[in-house]
Amino acid sequence: MSMDIKEIAEQYGTPLYVYDFDYIEERYSSLKDAFAGKKSLINYAVKANSNLSVIAHLAKLGAGADCVSIGEVKRALSAGVSKYKIIFSGVGKRDEEIRAALEYDILLINLESEAEMKRVEMVAKALGKEARISIRVNPNIDPQTHPYISTGLHENKFGVEIEMAKRMYIYAKKSEFLNPVGIHFHIGSQLTKLEPIAEACGIVADLVRSLKAIDIDIKFFDVGGGIGVVYDDEQTIAPQAYTDAIFQATKGLDVTILCEPGRYMVANAGVFLTKVLYEKVNEEKRFVIVDGAMNDLIRPSLYNAYHRIEAVAKEADTPENKKTPADVVGPVCESGDFLGKNVPLPPLEHNDLLAVHSAGAYGFTMASNYNTRPKPAEVAIQGDKVKLIRKRETYEDQVRLELECMEESAE
Ligand code: LLP
Repeated sequence: MSMDIKEIAEQYGTPLYVYDFDYIEERYSSLKDAFAGKKSLINYAVKANSNLSVIAHLAKLGAGADCVSIGEVKRALSAGVSKYKIIFSGVGKRDEEIRAALEYDILLINLESEAEMKRVEMVAKALGKEARISIRVNPNIDPQTHPYISTGLHENKFGVEIEMAKRMYIYAKKSEFLNPVGIHFHIGSQLTKLEPIAEACGIVADLVRSLKAIDIDIKFFDVGGGIGVVYDDEQTIAPQAYTDAIFQATKGLDVTILCEPGRYMVANAGVFLTKVLYEKVNEEKRFVIVDGAMNDLIRPSLYNAYHRIEAVAKEADTPENKKTPADVVGPVCESGDFLGKNVPLPPLEHNDLLAVHSAGAYGFTMASNYNTRPKPAEVAIQGDKVKLIRKRETYEDQVRLELECMEESAE
């Protein structure tokens, strides 16, 4: 990021998320370019970073949105994503969410079970509408990623098996209130190997061919999200190799390819800034205690995820700046509250700034108010402009929805 991170931290305070919008644009273009000449739509997975400004930035570039709650659908619509570029996925949808999705007339409702199909049919019937649907197929492929973010195996709760999908398509085709136009799969997140994606594409494309043979015409072939990014020294998937594998698998099919990248677009656009409160050394360990914590960025605690941590403006390798390993920990009352373990860091003082890298995806969106800590502010950088895109929460924001206790309110 070409900016003075220290100045930004001074101006907006810490803990703070900072996103590089130019980088997001580059990432979007790198993927869009790899689809050149083919019918395609990039449905940004809003869950990765759902700040309205981030979604609006991608919408202006032409992106659609992949949403997993009606709240995300509303975010996408209010950020300016065209309704015909919005997909609503997720293993469980409430009737009112289904109703709202039908009323908004979004591109697709993605079904994850037979029971869900029946609910969507009922809600569509009550509204006198036809629901455009896709079905999430679980191709039973091991994506070779962290088990918590693996989704394409039969042991995972997502999607339906091929045979079930076929039965559902046949049912939907006959229904007056369902219009089966799409097919979907998503085998996992932070995928660094192409083979499992290529294999899943092949399996699902074969299903599309067999559906065509029984006059069920699939128009949208959705390959999900999951393209991995570099946190450390991972080898990841190149956009052109990714799209080539998809083109290869879908050869001869007249479909629009949809994909749902989240992390790919935003992970490395973001940095989480936190200030040192103090150091503490015991016989075994050096701890750097900072003002950011697991409630702000939970990935290290939850997945043991690695995020590179750097001491800003302290990198000179002088004898007095010699780096030694330290655990970077927050103020939350849990031993699992850490941002990094054994991080090589120079001696640090009160108010020194640390940058936690690759924090643009599943950072702020997974933040909580645990320990009544306010959620951090968010800032965007574009060209030479810096803009606050979400204010820091206050104590009042946190208690706003809480009510007087029963005893007092009972007359
Ligand atoms: N589409 C579907 C249906 C998904 O379930 C997901 C992610 C995506 C797209 C976007 O995946 P991406 O391109 O970002 O890998 N909190 C975890 C990641 C959970 C991903 C859940 N689904 C983390 O911090 O690593």
